[in-house]
Amino acid sequence: MIKILFICLGNICRSPMAEFLLKDMVKKRGIAGDFYIASAATSTYEIGNPVHRGTRVKLAQYGISVAGKTAVQLTKEDYARYDYLIGMDTANIRDIMRIIGSDLQHKVYKLLQFAGSERNIADPWYTGNFDVTYDDIYEGCTALLDYLQNKTIV
Ligand code: 4NP
Repeated sequence: MIKILFICLGNICRSPMAEFLLKDMVKKRGIAGDFYIASAATSTYEIGNPVHRGTRVKLAQYGISVAGKTAVQLTKEDYARYDYLIGMDTANIRDIMRIIGSDLQHKVYKLLQFAGSERNIADPWYTGNFDVTYDDIYEGCTALLDYLQNKTIV
């Protein structure tokens, strides 16, 4: 079982988009049973709130539901619970490190690292553009899955 936690600032736009997109991808590849996937915020801003309408509408275009998801905050204990803690941008990584203290087991990544890029996932809370964010998250999640499948086979 591979346990993945996606992390962003509010846990209402980007990290739930990554969570439910990856859940859909593993389902389609027939490997859902090998994964536990969730998402969390670095901040307390949106705790308890549902997923942002922009993310819900975008995922609904692909038949993906986010029903029941509400924002939760990352805790120090999550570091032991998960194998991969994946942030969306450089600020997320800094905030994750502040919460968990240290990354001795090298579990913390920025999503597009898996696609060989240092780029951030733009925050649609500020840009208003959920299409660009979706394309980048799709690229990152595809690369992450390919990385994990190669790693497991080799
Ligand atoms: P997210 O976007 O980090 O992708 O969920 C944001 C959501 C809410 C806020 C900032 C970013 N906020 O300031 O409340």
